Amino acid sequence: MSAELNHIIVPAKDKWASAKFLAGVLGVAAGPEWAHFAPVRVGRVTIDFDDAKNFSHHHCAFLVSEAEFDAALTRIKAAGIEFFAEFCRSGPGEINRNYGGRGLYFDDPNGHLFELITRPYGDVPEQWIEGKAVRSER
Ligand SMILES: [Fe+2]
Repeated sequence: MSAELNHIIVPAKDKWASAKFLAGVLGVAAGPEWAHFAPVRVGRVTIDFDDAKNFSHHHCAFLVSEAEFDAALTRIKAAGIEFFAEFCRSGPGEINRNYGGRGLYFDDPNGHLFELITRPYGDVPEQWIEGKAVRSER
């Protein structure tokens, strides 16, 4: 089976706040709006933000190249967006070095936790293997 994720609907109190925020960090376009969605296409997947009143927060991780990570981190810093080395928001202003790559977490305006990684997780995320997670760099 060669199924791949094509699109996902992510609820938000302000769909355009989330769409423009994510697009700005990733350096991609937001929109155009269709039906009631504010879409952001990231690679082959579209994230369709949709206004909602009650929802639980989502977590999305984006696998990026080293150059894309550099560019996104520059935009994050320029915009004054807080970022963290770990999903529990420890390591403020730091990135992690999981899998020999780089990674960071940041919150979007609607409370979703986004992640940038330059290497995909293994079968068991490295940060769950005692003594493996390495945090570094501001
Ligand atoms: Fe993650």
